[in-house]
Amino acid sequence: MSTAAAIAIAIAALVVLGAISFFALARRSDVRGAGALSMETRQRDKAHRAAEHLDDPGRTAADAEAEGVAARSTELVPVSDEPPALVPWVPPDPELIGVSRRQFFNRATVSLMSVGLGAFAAAAFVAFLWPSGTGGFGGSVAVGKLDAIKDGIKQGGGFFYAPEAKSWITEYPAEALPAARTIYPANALVAMEAGIVILSQKCPHLGCRVPECKTSQWFECQCHGSQYNRVGEKKAGPAPRGMDRFPASISASGEVVIDTGTTIPGPSIGVNTTGQEAEGPHCTGGDEH
Ligand code: FES
Repeated sequence: MSTAAAIAIAIAALVVLGAISFFALARRSDVRGAGALSMETRQRDKAHRAAEHLDDPGRTAADAEAEGVAARSTELVPVSDEPPALVPWVPPDPELIGVSRRQFFNRATVSLMSVGLGAFAAAAFVAFLWPSGTGGFGGSVAVGKLDAIKDGIKQGGGFFYAPEAKSWITEYPAEALPAARTIYPANALVAMEAGIVILSQKCPHLGCRVPECKTSQWFECQCHGSQYNRVGEKKAGPAPRGMDRFPASISASGEVVIDTGTTIPGPSIGVNTTGQEAEGPHCTGGDEH
């Protein structure tokens, strides 16, 4: 998945989360406005009903009508010359004109929490999908300077293991390069032209880790006996091909960086560019093919 696609998905997730929060708050507001009365309103209502004896069980509708007729007067009331009395201003009920302070803070808190959680989820999602630049298997792994690696191969008796890249590195002889150029792809040849070959530790048969055999100077898989020469070309056993490789880049200063996210399939059975035969006893009993 490309970076742009990952960012687009994260933004879409954020928008959906925001929309869900908005509609949830709006619905909550609707439900409250449709049927809920404030405590002050309920208390006023209760006091009014008590004063008017509206809840008196013996009082009928006819009684209420008779009381109303008795209270009405047919006398004309002369219009006063006095100016009308000023009515004191009463602040409007906040619940009638909109959002109370408590509602505002409740909604702000829920909205901020939703946005925060959404942003965190989106950031985690993007971080999960973002390709790791360096440092871990599956990405680009710096394994040191070319000269230091060649020294390591000598000190390791012909084999250098790079655990962070899950790779074996061995020397590739310069005299075998003409043959190699007719077999291997360009991305595998970069390291070989510099005198090393970078092999995946994973056996192409069923995936066991292939160890080196110091006595034969080959790689010999303990699981089912597949054997490969020192540059990973298949010599014996059930494996369907030679050991897989990883491409690498070598900087001007000699820093070797292995691209462990790209696997180059091992060479076909029969490829033997170095002609290296076993140099001593085998570590496993694979049958020669
Ligand atoms: S896994 Fe290596 S030979 Fe089977």
